[in-house]
Amino acid sequence: SPLIIAIDGPSGSGKSSVSKAVASRLGVGYLDTGAMYRALTWWCLDQGVDLADEAAVVAAAQTLPLELSTDPDDQRVGVGGSDVTVDIRTTEISSQVSRVATNTGVRPILQQAQRDRMAAIATATGGVVAEGRDITTVVAPDALVRILLTASEEARLRRRSAEVHGTADEEAMAATRDQVLRRDRDDSSVSQFTVAADGVVTVDTSDLGFDESVEAVLAVVAS
Ligand code: CDP
Repeated sequence: SPLIIAIDGPSGSGKSSVSKAVASRLGVGYLDTGAMYRALTWWCLDQGVDLADEAAVVAAAQTLPLELSTDPDDQRVGVGGSDVTVDIRTTEISSQVSRVATNTGVRPILQQAQRDRMAAIATATGGVVAEGRDITTVVAPDALVRILLTASEEARLRRRSAEVHGTADEEAMAATRDQVLRRDRDDSSVSQFTVAADGVVTVDTSDLGFDESVEAVLAVVAS
């Protein structure tokens, strides 16, 4: 049976980079579900859709012309022929994405699209690593392997600050703290990603480097 691996976790837990490396090591495809929420947010803003207009955002979700690569070593995101790989990571999108992700009409549409993509990737490559906030609980509760990647708040803010600002000095840390903690708070109103659900294995990366985190996840997969 296909190797379906579901990984959830908050911002700065190492979720994306670790998930990609795990998929690469196992030779299976990869699905970044956060990129789907980000791409939808980018598209709404590009099309002039008011994010407060819930029905209009749902309509956009139903027709989102999304192209997502499945290769963990070559992640490309396209919307309607535009390459938005970089554009969906701006602070503007990061600050607006929770408004789209907490739209209760949007979630079932993207969740079903994620199940369909996971099935197609697993068929093509023998497995898939899918990561997000609700993969272990809602999108793929029957996955063979389910992991919650966590880290202390301090470790998460340090990593995120280095990633976004290139430094973890005091000023960068303060800006990151406001952004990340607000997004965590907004997101947690619709998905529970800070405590592992029943049967989900917690991997705490607070004191682990990148390679150690990858090995820790691979150890869970092998167990
Ligand atoms: O930047 P970070 O890695 O923390 O987030 P991401 O994985 O790129 O996800 C961006 C946003 O998409 C999150 O803040 C959530 O609002 C939303 N999201 C979600 O609601 N459910 C998922 N399965 C994945 C992402």
